[in-house]
Amino acid sequence: MRNILRFSAAIAGLSFLVTAAAGDDPLEDAIKARQGYMQVVKFNAAPLFGMAKGKIEYDAEAAKTYANNLQAAAMMKNGAMWPEGTDNVSYAGKTRTLPEAWTTYPKVAEANQVWIDATGELARVAGDGLDALRSKIGAVGEGCKGCHDDFRAEDF
Ligand code: HEC
Repeated sequence: MRNILRFSAAIAGLSFLVTAAAGDDPLEDAIKARQGYMQVVKFNAAPLFGMAKGKIEYDAEAAKTYANNLQAAAMMKNGAMWPEGTDNVSYAGKTRTLPEAWTTYPKVAEANQVWIDATGELARVAGDGLDALRSKIGAVGEGCKGCHDDFRAEDF
């Protein structure tokens, strides 16, 4: 009996540690996750925009890899990173996501789908030369902008 009690106490202590490590507020964890996700998106998109603008030398292999990564990121089912109650009114100073992401739903999902399709088109041709990259990158950039204009605040 005493062993069982000691064991339960150990488990209770352990689960406390796990909870503390994951963060005390799951909603704030979701905000951090989506911001990290957007940084991954940006990291892979930036060199593609750079190549298209002639600021970075075009490299077929690199372009293909970045575009495939971008498409993979776009395909992620990440609705759980946008739980209700995590808009920039409820979490002022921590997030730039506007309440409209929820109040005008499913508009944000539609904007996301436009962007997913654009990344797919880009991934298909990004390795086929600079002209091919340039023919599809504009729609990807408009996809970012389209969603940011409607659902992201300028500042925190
Ligand atoms: C479907 C909507 C949507 C699309 C598409 C989208 N974004 Fe975002 N992005 C957001 C929202 C909303 C935020 C605000 C996140 C927050 O602070 O909660 C954001 C934030 C960001 C941030 C700031 C992250 C941080 O650290 O705070 C960057 C950088 C970014 N996006 C880049 C991009 C790029 C580049 C693309 C296109 C290649 C893109 N996004 C496509 C909605 C979108």
